[in-house]
Amino acid sequence: MTEDTLLQSPLTLRVSGLCKRFGGVQALNDVSLDFPPGKITAVLGENGAGKSTLMTIMAGLQRPDSGTLTVAGTAVSGYSPSQMLHEHRIALVPQEIALCRDRTVAENVLLGREPGVLPSRRRMNEQTRALLEQIDTPIDPRQDAGLLSVAEQQLVLIARALARDCRVLILDEPTTSLTPNEASRLFALLRRLRDRGTTILYVSHRLPEIIELADLVHVLRDGRHVASFDAAEVTTDRLISAMVGRELAAAVRDDGRTVGSPLLEVANLSAAAFSGVSLTVCAGEIVGVAGLPDSGSNALVAALFGAVPATGDVRLDGVRLRVRSPRDAMRAGIGYVPAERRSQALFPDLSVNDNATVLDVETSSRFGLVNHRRLRRMGKARLAEYDVRGSSGGVVTGLSGGNQQKVILSRWLAREPRLLLLDDPTRGVDVGAKSEIHDRLVDVARSGAAVLMSSSDLPELLRVCDRIVVLSRGQVTGAVDARTATEQEVMALATRSVAASPA
Ligand SMILES: Nc1ncnc2c1ncn2[C@@H]1O[C@H](COP(=O)(O)OP(=O)(O)OP(=O)(O)O)[C@@H](O)[C@H]1O
Ligand SMILES: [Mg+2]
Repeated sequence: MTEDTLLQSPLTLRVSGLCKRFGGVQALNDVSLDFPPGKITAVLGENGAGKSTLMTIMAGLQRPDSGTLTVAGTAVSGYSPSQMLHEHRIALVPQEIALCRDRTVAENVLLGREPGVLPSRRRMNEQTRALLEQIDTPIDPRQDAGLLSVAEQQLVLIARALARDCRVLILDEPTTSLTPNEASRLFALLRRLRDRGTTILYVSHRLPEIIELADLVHVLRDGRHVASFDAAEVTTDRLISAMVGRELAAAVRDDGRTVGSPLLEVANLSAAAFSGVSLTVCAGEIVGVAGLPDSGSNALVAALFGAVPATGDVRLDGVRLRVRSPRDAMRAGIGYVPAERRSQALFPDLSVNDNATVLDVETSSRFGLVNHRRLRRMGKARLAEYDVRGSSGGVVTGLSGGNQQKVILSRWLAREPRLLLLDDPTRGVDVGAKSEIHDRLVDVARSGAAVLMSSSDLPELLRVCDRIVVLSRGQVTGAVDARTATEQEVMALATRSVAASPA
C-alpha cells in the first residue's frame, strides 16, 4: 500500500431510485443521489430519516428492495460487505463501532487480509504500524483493541479501510462520542484523505461541523431526498428547515417560568471522580453541568441518583437525603435519564410500550398479577403525548435515538419528579427531537420541579439552562449565567487547571 494507490482515479458513486422498507416503515423512498469523487459529502437528516439505512446499503450490509447503486459507471449486482470492500473499495465506519475486542489492533486492521499464507505476527504489526503512521495515529499494533478509546477505535477502522485501498470511506456519526479535540483531529485526517482522492460520505447531526467539513450536503427527510446544498454557501438555519420541514422556535427561554426557593442543595459532595462539589438548584430552575469528559460531570449527576457511591450533604426541599441506591432516589422523587441509553435505560428486548411503562409495573399490579391492559393504555397515551414515532408494540431498539429518548423521558415524567437529573440527554439526537426534549425540560421546570443536566453539547446548555456549573478534573471551577455567558467563558473554566484533589 503506497501513496500512489490512494491517488488513483477516484470513484464516481451514484444511487438511483433506492427504496427500502422495514415492516410498516419506508426507510428509503425513491432516493437518487450523487456522491462526487474526491469530495466530502455530508448526509443530514432527523433521527429515522434513513441515513444509516442508505449507508449500510452502500456498504453491502443490506440490500435495497429496488433501485441501483452505480460505482464508476457499473451497477452493483451483489450486496455483501466483502464485495463492496474488495471489488468496489467502499468501506464503512459504522454508527455502532464493532471491533473484535479481544484481538490485537493489527488483527483488527488486517482482518481477512493477513499478508501471506501464514501471516507472521511481526509482518502484520509492521504493516499495521505503517498504516497507522499514515494517519498520524501512534497506537501500538500489538495492543488489544478492547482497550482503545472510541476515537482510537474509529482510527483503527479507518486504517482497516486504507489496508484495503478503499476509495470510498463512509462514516456514520463518527463524532458522537469524541471530545472536541479528537473531532478536530478526525476532520484534519478526513480532509487529508479527501485531498488524496478518497471520496468521503459523512453522516452527522451536528450542523456546524458539517458546514465546516463538507463540500456538499444532501438532506433526507422521512426516507426521501428533500434538498442538496453547496456547504460553502449554506447556513445552519437553511439546513434545519430542510431537515425538519418547518421553522423551529428560536429559543425556549422567556417562557414565563418563575424560579422559586432552593430545592436541591448539595454541599461538599465527593466521589471517586469529583470532590467537594457544592451547588444549588431552585424550584423551576434548569441548571447545567459542563465539563470535559474527564471532569466528573457525568459521575456527579449519577451520584445524585445513587448510581455512584458518594459522600456529602444532599438536601431536597430542606430534608437531608440518604441516597445509597437508585431506589432511595426514586422514593425521594428523583428521576434520572442516563447518557448510555442502550445499556442503562432501555430494555432492548421489550416493546416500546413496555419501555414507556416499566416504572409503573409495581403500581399496576395486585397480588402479584400485572394489569397489562392498564399498562398498555397508559403506554399508548404516553407515546401519543410525547409524539413518539414508531409502533408501540415493536421492540424499542427499532426506534431512532430521538424517539428512544422520548420514551425514557415519558417514563420518568409520568412520575412527576421533584428533581429530574439528566446526563447528555440529546446525545445522537437530531435537532427536531432535541428541541422537543428541551421543551419538555422547560415544562418540567415550569411545573415547579428542579432540573439538573450535564451535557457535552455546550450550545445546548447555553440554550436551555438558567445557570451552568462548570467542573474541571472533578472540582467546581465556576458557575455562569447561561443567558449571558459565551462558549469561550465556559471552555475557559472547563480547562482551568485545579490543585490535585486530596482524595
Ligand atoms: N433493521 C431494521 N428493522 C426495522 N426498522 C428499521 C431497521 N433499520 C432501520 N429501521 C427504521 O427505518 C427508519 C430509518 O432508520 P435509519 O437508522 O436509517 O435512520 P437514521 O437517519 O440513521 O437515524 P439516526 O439519526 O437515529 O441514526 C427508522 O424509522 C428506523 O426505525
Ligand atoms: Mg443512523
